[in-house]
Amino acid sequence: MKFNTKTIHGGQQHDPSTGAVMPPIYQTSTYAQKSPGDHKGYEYSRTANPTRTALENAFASIENGKFGLAFGSGMAAIDCVIKLLSPGDEVVSTNDLYGGTFRIFTEIFENYGIKFHFIGMENAANIENYITDKTKLIWVETPTNPMMNIIDIKAASIVAKKHNVMLAVDNTFATPYLQTPLDLGADIVMHSATKYLGGHSDVVMGALIVKDKELADKLYFIQNSCGAICGPMDSFLVLRGIKTLHIRMQRHCENGTQVAHFLADHPKVEKVYWPGFESHPNHEIAKEQMKDFGGMISFTTKGNNIKDTYKIIENLKIFTLAESLGGVESLSGHPASMTHASIPKEEREKTGVVDSLIRLSVGIEDIDDLLADLDQALSLI
Ligand SMILES: Cc1ncc(COP(=O)(O)O)c(C=O)c1O
Repeated sequence: MKFNTKTIHGGQQHDPSTGAVMPPIYQTSTYAQKSPGDHKGYEYSRTANPTRTALENAFASIENGKFGLAFGSGMAAIDCVIKLLSPGDEVVSTNDLYGGTFRIFTEIFENYGIKFHFIGMENAANIENYITDKTKLIWVETPTNPMMNIIDIKAASIVAKKHNVMLAVDNTFATPYLQTPLDLGADIVMHSATKYLGGHSDVVMGALIVKDKELADKLYFIQNSCGAICGPMDSFLVLRGIKTLHIRMQRHCENGTQVAHFLADHPKVEKVYWPGFESHPNHEIAKEQMKDFGGMISFTTKGNNIKDTYKIIENLKIFTLAESLGGVESLSGHPASMTHASIPKEEREKTGVVDSLIRLSVGIEDIDDLLADLDQALSLI
């Protein structure tokens, strides 16, 4: 199946008991057994639930993996990956990443004896300099949040394979519509399914997808043991979201392209971060590993004045000022005080997250309305 068919049918079957085309919301915690161990594949919903199974199969299908796992949030999915490690193990992570990921690494897992190296990965060969005999995992986010840096997944996987360490890619921003990291050599794909996969800002969820059975079994064991699963209603919502992922992403990319160029040409705008520009670092790699450039854009205004920044985000009318991204509606965000507030100022400024940076999640509304909204807000400074 091609991607646009997989989003609708991948890993799906009609409900075996009723023929329902969409999997029912199996709002149940437990399942009847004829005699101990004699059941229809389901025992208890922490371990497996039919609605969640349908979603997990869809995850595996759209990412070209074999096994999918759904969690109560993106953070719960990350938590599951790091629980593969033991005290003394080391992780090499990109230094420009979602603030919550930085927080769980440094404030939770460092306390359990896991060491994290945060490095620039614009040149993937740099990763090798931080690999020791204790390194077990390379953690990549691409495009990164919020600077839209592009990391060469294939090159990172060559380093990972050479040193026999796992490569995990947070594919939240790109989605499998734009890139499929498992095809480029990654071992684990992670998503905040809260974002584009869900697509409607109505659910919080995380996902992991892998190809290898042994790795999948370890992750299922942690998922079941620690219990950070999502419920059947949320599973249903994300499954429904995935069915339109391809058409939503196409429009996000079309609108994103127009917004990026509009901002780049605007006299009040200083810098625009969007991987579709030829001048964007690693644009050539983006062109190679991504199908298009997405609807996530960050920009700064001339003068780098925080008051101007607040004026813009407070006065945007269609772009709602809110955490999160990837929904049908356009959102604006202020990384320094919102998504990245948990990263110390000196640390975040090193990667470009200055006080005047605004991040846009360009939605799928009419492009004329989006450009007019940005124009009126920028005219106020
Ligand atoms: C790139 C990225 N990874 C992970 C997460 C965490 O996901 P969640 O909020 O679903 O726990 C987010 C959330 O914003 C994110 O943007």
